[in-house]
Amino acid sequence: MQKTLVLLTFVASTLAPATQALAQDAAANTYIGVKTCAGICHKSEKQGNQLGIWSQSGHAQAYVTLTTAKANDIAKAKGLATPAAESPECLQCHALRAENVEIKDGVQCEMCHGAGSGYKSNSIMKDRAKSIAAGMKEYKDDAAIEAQCRSCHNEKSPTFKEFNFAERWAKIRHTVPKTPEG
Ligand code: HEC
Ligand code: HEC
Ligand code: HEC
Repeated sequence: MQKTLVLLTFVASTLAPATQALAQDAAANTYIGVKTCAGICHKSEKQGNQLGIWSQSGHAQAYVTLTTAKANDIAKAKGLATPAAESPECLQCHALRAENVEIKDGVQCEMCHGAGSGYKSNSIMKDRAKSIAAGMKEYKDDAAIEAQCRSCHNEKSPTFKEFNFAERWAKIRHTVPKTPEG
């Protein structure tokens, strides 16, 4: 933690002033919700159909799952005082609770990409470095992506069996297609 802070301070202090302001704002970013991320921008085939892929994935159903009898049986067996869909012990991995976010959207875009208010504008979004400086979470390699997955896909989950990263990532991957020019 301390190391990260020192590193962040170092990075922030060596960036150009405009980027530095963005880095400072990133901490104050707020969630904007799936509709704002994907209602217009991240849904065409040309863009990679992120909305469609996510909607078809288990992540879009993760909150609904907590409303089932099976979920409530698990919550009861754990001695929780509230139904699964109202228990923070379950919601922490199954949904994002924030202003402007529909809880029913479950594991939505910003749970993996970071709160979007600072990087959502087109002028920032089209530039990856600017987006990251403005608070979009950066994944340097597959190991970093897998670590993010395992922050939820782990033995703290009452129904956990195993997590094969390559197989699961292939199921939800939503890359922007490369143009013929590259
Ligand atoms: C914020 C918590 C969280 C994170 C982070 C997360 N998941 Fe999930 N994932 C879930 C939950 C909860 C479900 C169960 C959804 C349901 O069935 O209700 C799920 C379900 C899935 C499913 C559907 C089940 C299946 O195998 O078909 C896949 C695939 C999946 N996750 C892959 C991933 C991958 C790959 C990553 C990392 C890029 C990831 N998840 C990151 C919480 C998370
Ligand atoms: C550490 C994160 C985490 C926590 C905490 C968590 N879950 Fe989950 N849950 C998951 C993930 C990830 C999956 C997807 C499992 C998979 O496909 O491997 C899942 C899947 C499920 C499923 C569907 C699995 C099936 O076989 O039908 C139910 C039901 C469920 N969770 C209920 C709960 C309940 C109830 C709680 C609270 C007592 C809870 N979960 C807490 C991460 C979590
Ligand atoms: C379970 C985690 C997770 C969820 C949920 C998720 N993403 Fe992603 N997304 C990733 C990861 C990991 C990558 C690959 C690393 C990267 O490019 O940042 C990625 C990549 C992307 C990319 C493009 C990357 C490229 O340059 O090819 C876009 C655009 C994107 N996501 C948008 C979305 C939108 C919009 C949603 C919601 C509808 C969403 N994502 C939901 C984890 C997630």
